[in-house]
Amino acid sequence: RFLAEVQASTGRPLALVEVGASAGLCLLPDRFGYRWRTGDGVVDLAPPEPAAPTLECRVTGPVPLPSRAPGIGWRAGIDLAPLDVRDDDAVAWLETLVWPEQEQRRDRLRGALGVARRQPPRLVRGDLLTALPALLEEVPDDLTPVVLHSAVVAYLEPPDRQRFRTLMTGLVRRGACSWVSNEGAEVLPELTTTGPPVPPDRSTFVLAVDGRARAWTHPHGASMTWLDR
Ligand SMILES: C[S@@+](CC[C@H](N)C(=O)[O-])C[C@H]1O[C@@H](n2cnc3c(N)ncnc32)[C@H](O)[C@@H]1O
Repeated sequence: RFLAEVQASTGRPLALVEVGASAGLCLLPDRFGYRWRTGDGVVDLAPPEPAAPTLECRVTGPVPLPSRAPGIGWRAGIDLAPLDVRDDDAVAWLETLVWPEQEQRRDRLRGALGVARRQPPRLVRGDLLTALPALLEEVPDDLTPVVLHSAVVAYLEPPDRQRFRTLMTGLVRRGACSWVSNEGAEVLPELTTTGPPVPPDRSTFVLAVDGRARAWTHPHGASMTWLDR
């Protein structure tokens, strides 16, 4: 939904740069289907190929859901240890990280890996703090660059979290990219507190665009609470 919004703001296809990309599956939002369960009913966006998984999300609040996937003209990811989706051992290891009872998640992961294996995204080995500016320089001029990450900044030491936030804030201020952050509420508190206070008994991720909290999200994408009024 947020990528469609960024694209609508410029009218140009997106260039996605994912930091902490692992196998790069979040670089493929245009290759999956979506099913949003809203208070008003179910909204579907069919996958572009029948074998691709449909990602389901329970939505609270008046989210303006997109009617088509964003156009993506270029994509690349950075990871300290990129995972090659063509490597059977690496893929088997990734599957073991899904908790045993979560059959549905495992099926979804297998479906997404199948999509990625047909056309793997480009992944660069490196540290997001140092490799990101150079990768952004490679984005073709006629595209809208978006840096995104999900469940990554928690792995940085606190001073490096701040360095990353400073890096991203500077890039956004210079117009070098848009920034979609999806991290635990306590990981980047400066972003979290741009939204309403998170109730103390609520464990949630916060999705922020260009530093502003826009939604509370489930860590695995199962739900989204819209924060815009
Ligand atoms: C929990 S995984 C999230 C993967 C992916 N974003 C997703 O949601 O499926 C965190 C990833 O961040 C990567 N990572 C951690 N610190 C990093 C750093 N300093 N630079 C680049 N990648 C890093 C790890 O190698 C790992 O692949």
